[in-house]
Amino acid sequence: MGNIKVAPSILSADFSQLCHEIRECERGKADYIHLDVMDGHFVPNISFGPVVIKSIRKCTKIPFDAHLMIERPDKYIKDFMKAGVDIITVHREINVDIETILRKIRNYGAEVGIAINPDTPFSKVIDFIDNVDYLLIMSVYPGFSGQSFIEDVLPKIREAREFIDREGLSVKISVDGGIKHNNFKRVVDAGADIIVAASAIFGGNIVRNISDFKK
Ligand code: DX5
Ligand code: ZN
Repeated sequence: MGNIKVAPSILSADFSQLCHEIRECERGKADYIHLDVMDGHFVPNISFGPVVIKSIRKCTKIPFDAHLMIERPDKYIKDFMKAGVDIITVHREINVDIETILRKIRNYGAEVGIAINPDTPFSKVIDFIDNVDYLLIMSVYPGFSGQSFIEDVLPKIREAREFIDREGLSVKISVDGGIKHNNFKRVVDAGADIIVAASAIFGGNIVRNISDFKK
């Protein structure tokens, strides 16, 4: 349990104090900052994009993971790179050639992640798993923070963990959505390396909320 990494999702942060809250994440020893980018098409919500990311890049050196919940991430890879992200995660469910976009991200020098919605089976990413650094398993339907954790994804986390270990891959498993202090142990026991959380971290004592996950 000691090595679990924590990625606060700023979607639940107070955007009027974003830099301050990101620095609180740094004090809490967050391992990544998780950036939920939404276009109102792939998901029914709109959040923020490269312009905001570029300005918050000045607040911290913690690696930025851009979780792109957008229909055409292929059009914007360069913009996210220029904004200073370290990891770009795209969804398996988009109608864009996955192999091409993963290669494009890699060629720009970022680490690569692939995300799957709760109803997308692990088998749908097996063909791409050799080409990614992170597998992001959604435990809510993407679009909003503050939703309840979908217990049915636990077997999928176990399946991914077993596959990655059996094949000797170094892909890290992130789990995103509805993770709270009362359920994260089940997520970690199922095989997660990284916990993404928004509402369980922001809106209270950020430093303590992060360190409670890491204890
Ligand atoms: C959902 C986002 C998540 C979300 C998590 O579309 O991808 O990262 O912010 O929020 P909580 O932890 O509140 O479920
Ligand atoms: Zn996310």
